[in-house]
Amino acid sequence: MGMESKYIWMDGELVDFGKATLHFLTPALHYGVGVFEGIRCYTTERGPAIFRLKEHTERLIDSAKILGFRELPYSAAEIADAIRQTVAANGFDECYIRPLIYLTGGGWNLTVDAGRAAVGIAVWQWDNYLGEEALERGIRANVASFTRLHPNVSMTKAKITGNYANSVLAKTESMRLGFDEAILLDPQGYVGECTGENIFVVRDGKITTPDTSAILEGITRASLITLARDAGYEVIEAPVSRDQLYIADEVFVCGTAAECIALREVDFRLIGSGKMGPVTRDLQTQFHAAIRGKHARSAEWLDYINTGAELPLPVRAAADAG
Ligand SMILES: Cc1ncc(COP(=O)(O)O)c(C=O)c1O
Repeated sequence: MGMESKYIWMDGELVDFGKATLHFLTPALHYGVGVFEGIRCYTTERGPAIFRLKEHTERLIDSAKILGFRELPYSAAEIADAIRQTVAANGFDECYIRPLIYLTGGGWNLTVDAGRAAVGIAVWQWDNYLGEEALERGIRANVASFTRLHPNVSMTKAKITGNYANSVLAKTESMRLGFDEAILLDPQGYVGECTGENIFVVRDGKITTPDTSAILEGITRASLITLARDAGYEVIEAPVSRDQLYIADEVFVCGTAAECIALREVDFRLIGSGKMGPVTRDLQTQFHAAIRGKHARSAEWLDYINTGAELPLPVRAAADAG
């Protein structure tokens, strides 16, 4: 995966990719004290468009609040503008967008109050997060031996960088075992979510997904619930047990990076026919239409980047350019 781009936005400036570095003694690196977002920008007939930028920016600010930051250097609107500017400056038609708010300049005594929050935004091209075949064939997953975070051990509504050590433990284990993704059970033993995706089961045409008490409030999850209900499916938020995965007609996972992908096998048991099922296919198709500006919901969900507009060039990039 090439993560290169021309610029990374760092605290108000577009910095050349190679110069976007931090000091070894940045507390966020040592203690996992940062919050981030994963957002996508898609090509549409009207040019590049960012999917649900407002919701992602709000979740970023909420994550910072949950982690305890009292003051942020930028408002949600300013961060959303900086995201648009970073996408436009890098010139990608499609990209993944990674804003990060992290603790710097103090905090060795383990409080966020001793340092300050800094903000960076990177973009890169990241297709097929779960592999090229996943879209059509679906993927194989297992239930991880690691439990998802208890909501009072770490805050599961926040995309806190340190939380992702739990995802890394589970995903590394699953991939070493030959699976594509890990399913984590919550501390009560019910199905929680995957390492970077929410999970849905379909049985007798009805769609069930775990409620959000112990998991991330996924924006793709919310979008798929809306699309499913628009299309007349019944969607229930309720506890899901491990064996309810095994006997489901279909299981699918969704997230910004993964989009909407079928699980064709869980713990060596074929799900349904072992192929992507009709409900998953329907929702995947609708989701793809929505992100590309071809769905009734697109107008509400897409933020078009006007690449033709003259965006003010930030100081350092302007200096570099000439
Ligand atoms: C743990 C976890 N669950 C679910 C998701 C899916 O959330 P979203 O659809 O907002 O990307 C993500 C990805 O952000 C995640 O990291």
